[in-house]
Amino acid sequence: MKHWRVEQVAWDRFDPARVDPALVPLVKAAAMVERNGDDYALYLKSIFRDDPDFQLAAEYWAEEEVQHGEALGRWAALADPGWDFRAAFARYRESFKINTTADASIRGSLTGELIARCMVETGTSSYYTALGEGTQEPVLKEICRLIAADEYRHFKLFYDHMKRYLARENLSFLQRLRVAAGRIGESEDDELAYAFHCSNEAPGTPYDHDRCIAAYMGRAMGYYRFHHIERGMGMIFKAIGLEPRGRLSALTARGAWRLLQWRRGRYESALAANENRTGAAVPAAA
Ligand SMILES: [Fe+2]
Ligand SMILES: [Fe+2]
Repeated sequence: MKHWRVEQVAWDRFDPARVDPALVPLVKAAAMVERNGDDYALYLKSIFRDDPDFQLAAEYWAEEEVQHGEALGRWAALADPGWDFRAAFARYRESFKINTTADASIRGSLTGELIARCMVETGTSSYYTALGEGTQEPVLKEICRLIAADEYRHFKLFYDHMKRYLARENLSFLQRLRVAAGRIGESEDDELAYAFHCSNEAPGTPYDHDRCIAAYMGRAMGYYRFHHIERGMGMIFKAIGLEPRGRLSALTARGAWRLLQWRRGRYESALAANENRTGAAVPAAA
């Protein structure tokens, strides 16, 4: 299947009057993580060194992730013409390093690595769907729709390879669950927080994980609706070998939705407190 191209997006439909200012810092940060996909592909190719089919798929996958970064970065520069995408990404790349010559997956097995990838694609597929539905700006809506469709295909790609490795490595249900839960928990670690820092805070500002993750999550979590969580939970269940549309999945989705609301409240309060302290909505990026 052929990639869509950044030039195909109807950039001339960009409407500054419809830009939600709370979304711009999120798009800037997401552009960093997506654009870094090529380094992640090197890591994947290194740990799947005996699997040329998967290596080829990882290369193709990374081209799409890099393109997501390029499209989001271009949109953010339209929304904030003073923002320098290349400079922000150079800062991110300099400090956020992925081990591109690893011998083995940090997840303990190749099946585990693929389950972790399924979790990431579940997260991005839900997130871009939520942002796309939440924005009124036509170009961002189009980009989010294109990206969300790619992320869902990526989930299927990693899921299919995972099934192949599962037959070989035979991970137990609990091992699969542990990897999945571990990767979901990492979404509030440094990757996104640091991406927020590099793309939204002036160079020279010291990095502070708690401030940056609150700045990110305090804005992002409000875009989710229950149906995004319900669909995402189905994908998580599928990846760990449970019935995706059963009673347990529905129950867990309701629990996750409540947890999200609670965390959203805490992050929004932290974000508001930090903004009061600094006296600025978001420190301007140079
Ligand atoms: Fe992506
Ligand atoms: Fe993806």
